[in-house]
Amino acid sequence: MRYLILSDMHANWDAFEAVLRRARRKRFDAVLALGDLVGYGAAPNQVVEAVRRLGPRLWTVRGNHDKVVAGIDSGSNFNQTALAAAQWTTGRLTYANLRYVRDLPKGPVQVEPDLAICHGSPLDEDTYVFSDVDAWEIFSRFQMPVTFFGHTHIPSLFWLEGRTLGLRALRGATGRIKLDPGGRYLINPGSIGQPRDRDPRAAYMTYDSERKVVRWYRIPYAVADAQRRIRRAGLPAPLADRLATGA
Ligand SMILES: [Fe+2]
Repeated sequence: MRYLILSDMHANWDAFEAVLRRARRKRFDAVLALGDLVGYGAAPNQVVEAVRRLGPRLWTVRGNHDKVVAGIDSGSNFNQTALAAAQWTTGRLTYANLRYVRDLPKGPVQVEPDLAICHGSPLDEDTYVFSDVDAWEIFSRFQMPVTFFGHTHIPSLFWLEGRTLGLRALRGATGRIKLDPGGRYLINPGSIGQPRDRDPRAAYMTYDSERKVVRWYRIPYAVADAQRRIRRAGLPAPLADRLATGA
């Protein structure tokens, strides 16, 4: 199967549209969406509707922002900006889209015998996986050869081969990694709508599960349009400012 992997769109339609337009030039059999469809950005309905149209070969999990927007989580651990954006989003979503967000499944979700997806960590959907220590704990407690995760907004790859643990940040416009059949992997495609690795371009991945090949991509998009939508919506200004730097 050839998968298109999308994460952390965060209601940024300008970025998401650019990714979908680019990705459709290549063939893929199914889509994996790793959560945080909404929150931060000013186009939640457009993003949710575009995700819904990606079915039926679509696997999804819910993100922490999706949960707060849907009222599953109170957002007590959110900062002011994130909470204000979540509350704005709840009021803005159509009933059908709000219900879709509320019904997103809790991760991890197994896609193939050797492949799973989650938002934060497969051990806890809200936990951030940043370090080799975080990855080590997952490798020792979650026996899955390949897991794609989101949440940190940092394109990255952790691997375990034998007792050797490795970590790589995935930089640049595109790149390719062939996975070792004997290794185990935790892979983050980065964020489409709110990148945080100081590269403002939208990030996504593809994965060929037969050839075990991961490719990553960064796509420039109309950042100024996304910023204008955020400001016009009255959302907190830092949400717009941040898109220009990807920080
Ligand atoms: Fe996120």
